[in-house]
Amino acid sequence: MKTFYLETFGCQMNAHDSEKVIGTLLQQGYTQVPEPEAAELVLYNTCSIRDKAEQKVFYRLQHFKKNAGAGKVIGVLGCVAQQEGEKIFERAPFVSLVAGSASYTKLPEMLVQLEAGNRRVTGLTLDTEDTFDTPYTRRDNPHRAYITIIEGCDKACAYCVVPFTRGPERSRTSESVLREATALTERGYTEVQLLGQNVNSYRDPSPTGYDFAQLLQRTGELPGMRRVRFTTSHPRDFVKEIIDVIDNNEALCNHVHLPVQSGSSEVLARMQRLYTREQYMQRIEWMKAAKRDIAITTDIIVGFPGETEAHFTETLKMVEQVEYDAMFIFKYSRRPNTPALNYEDQIPEEEKVLRFQILTELQRTVQMRRNAKYVGQREEVHVEGFNSATGQWIGRTSQNKMLNFGDPSFPAPTGSETLVGKYTDVLVTRASPHSLAGERVGTQSPVVQ
Ligand code: SAH
Ligand code: SF4
Ligand code: F3S
Repeated sequence: MKTFYLETFGCQMNAHDSEKVIGTLLQQGYTQVPEPEAAELVLYNTCSIRDKAEQKVFYRLQHFKKNAGAGKVIGVLGCVAQQEGEKIFERAPFVSLVAGSASYTKLPEMLVQLEAGNRRVTGLTLDTEDTFDTPYTRRDNPHRAYITIIEGCDKACAYCVVPFTRGPERSRTSESVLREATALTERGYTEVQLLGQNVNSYRDPSPTGYDFAQLLQRTGELPGMRRVRFTTSHPRDFVKEIIDVIDNNEALCNHVHLPVQSGSSEVLARMQRLYTREQYMQRIEWMKAAKRDIAITTDIIVGFPGETEAHFTETLKMVEQVEYDAMFIFKYSRRPNTPALNYEDQIPEEEKVLRFQILTELQRTVQMRRNAKYVGQREEVHVEGFNSATGQWIGRTSQNKMLNFGDPSFPAPTGSETLVGKYTDVLVTRASPHSLAGERVGTQSPVVQ
């Protein structure tokens, strides 16, 4: 009996890669187990976007080896694998497999080598035109599915490891994407999330030649498709057609994640982000002028080398102006191979912490303001779960807001009866910075599948 355990770190691309890796392993006759102790093959799908993420993996490796690693085959996949390569064998000699995401199509061959007793198996080439299209994906969520449409990154932001860890951009053909999306709807999925490091840089390599907006539109038109999300969009490639397509098709969620990184054009130039504050704000204006109420979320890095207080104030002003619905804030982390690693004017840690706190606090008030506007409104949610501690169902709006709600006529799941996976309307009665709360309305009418 061949058993494996897989733990995943990092972004949604990694989470979905893991679903594909698991599918491939199952297809190769392996069985997944929930604890590493019970597995013969232990895999870590790693992230190296910030130093902390990378350290976590090495800590996990050492800790596991000391306590339960004897006799196991251990593999490192993902971005740390690609970044560190064979150096991992020096640092953690008990590791037998090091493979980056651009090599996953070769997983079956790598497994054969491991089974044959090879203890230095690698998959580290970035020189590929392949994408990891596999029919063997084992999805975690039965209602919402990830679909990768583009892998890699052709940008070169001065702080970022992704171009080194994921290689050059490769798009899947629109036919392959739409075939997968159709197969998902036929299996009962109603919501999909199109994925790519820069999802909107998508370019169909087939003669059909769709751009991202066209692919988005076609996906939203598939019979049975209720919700289509996409992440992450790069501002440089964010064209107005994307908004027009969202405006004209209810199935496309009214949420755009558009990482800005900084509100200062000077900092953006030093980051090599390829747009100015003004160009970014133009995209925001398109969204604000849309017919639908589009939720806008972002990523911001504080303490990038050379970021002065005046630059940071520009970021704060922009945040006030845009009124983001949610934000991921990161303290700049020095990364190997990246140009910014050696920039001289690094910002002291205390200053980064301070800016992080100031921005977090500001965003909290902005989010409170944004969310308060929904009180009294009726929102459709896709139900994701039930919290037995609070007796509340957990749903998500098209705008990607968590909406917890009660339902007196259906207070809890019973046996096989549940609201999970269904769509229903909820009247919003309360708001907090991070979520909404309400009561299900029209409980007499049937819940829509
Ligand atoms: N491709 C996306 C972002 C992918 S990485 C884009 O270009 O917008 C996810 C986020 O991690 C980035 O948006 C950035 O905010 C953050 N990040 C990347 N490298 C970082 C670093 N060295 N230090 C801190 N944050 C970083
Ligand atoms: Fe990293 Fe920039 Fe590529 Fe995004 S666009 S993945 S931040 S290099
Ligand atoms: Fe991390 Fe790699 Fe994703 S570095 S954020 S897992 S692309």
